[in-house]
Amino acid sequence: MTIDSTFHHGDPVTGAPIVEMKGIEKHFGNVIALAGVSFDIRPGECHCLLGDNGAGKSTFIKTMSGVHKPTKGEILFEGRPMSFSSPRDAMEAGIATVFQDLAMIPLMSVTRNFFMGREPKKGEGLFRRMDLGAANEICVEEMRKMGINLRGPDQAVGTLSGGERQTVAIARAVYFGAKVLILDEPTSALGVRQTSNVLATIDRVRKQGVGVVFISHNVRHALAVGDRFTVLNRGKTLGTATRGDITPEALQDLMAGGQEMAQLEGSLGGTI
Ligand SMILES: Nc1ncnc2c1ncn2[C@@H]1O[C@H](COP(=O)(O)OP(=O)(O)O)[C@@H](O)[C@H]1O
Ligand SMILES: [Mg+2]
Repeated sequence: MTIDSTFHHGDPVTGAPIVEMKGIEKHFGNVIALAGVSFDIRPGECHCLLGDNGAGKSTFIKTMSGVHKPTKGEILFEGRPMSFSSPRDAMEAGIATVFQDLAMIPLMSVTRNFFMGREPKKGEGLFRRMDLGAANEICVEEMRKMGINLRGPDQAVGTLSGGERQTVAIARAVYFGAKVLILDEPTSALGVRQTSNVLATIDRVRKQGVGVVFISHNVRHALAVGDRFTVLNRGKTLGTATRGDITPEALQDLMAGGQEMAQLEGSLGGTI
C-alpha cells in the first residue's frame, strides 16, 4: 500500500487567510529558534509545515497557538493584529492544536474524552446535570462522520488504535468550533494504514472549511494531502510552494539532509 495523492481534491484554495504570521522570530536566550518566518492559513486548505528535527516547527506553531510570545513579528487573526496571551485565548478564537501526546484518559470512554467536561446539560437549577444520552449520541455520530464506527459510546479510548485516537482529538476540536486545526506530527508514530486513516481525516476536515496546519517531516505524507508547503530549515524558510508548482524531489531537497534521505529511501526500496 502506498500513499500518493489519493486524498487530494485538486482545487487551489483561495480566500482571505484566517491567520497570518509575518516575520516571526523567537529567541530562547542565545538560541534563535525562529529567524523571521512568514506563513498563513486559509479556510479549507491543508498547509504543510515541513522540516527536519530541530528546524523550529513546534516552536512556530506554539507561537501561533498562544504558548509562546514571538520575540519579533506580527500575527493577524482574520485580518486584525492579534496577541494571544495563552493557549486558551487562541482556542477561544478558534485555533485548536492536537499534540502528539494527546490529552486523553485511556480508561475513560470515548464520549467522556470527546467532551472532557463540556457535555451538553439538561434540567434547570439544582437539577441541572450532564445529558449523557445526548453526549453519547453526538459522539457516536461525530466519530461515524470521521469513518470510525465505535462498538458503543462506552468504549474506552485505550482500546482504540493510535490513528483512531488522533481522529477522536481532531473530531473533538472540529466539533467545538476550530477554524484552524494545528496537527503536530500526527503521523510520525503511525504505521502506513493508520497514517492513511489520519490523512483521510485531514481531508474530511478540510472539506468542512477548516484550515489545517499539518506538521510533518515526511514529504510523502505531506504530498498526500497538502495544498501548500512551507519548509523550515534551522528557523528559516525559503518561502511557500503551491501544490503542482513543486516536485516531491525538490521538496525533499529543501529539507535538511534531503539528498541523503532520498538516497536512503531509494536503497530501502522506496518504503515510508
Ligand atoms: N523552550 C525552549 N528553550 C530553549 N530552546 C528551545 C525551546 N524550545 C525549542 N528550543 C530550541 O529551538 C529549536 C527548534 O526546536 P523545535 O521547534 O522543537 O523544532 P522541531 O519541532 O522542528 O523539531 C531547537 O534548537 C530547540 O532546541
Ligand atoms: Mg517538533
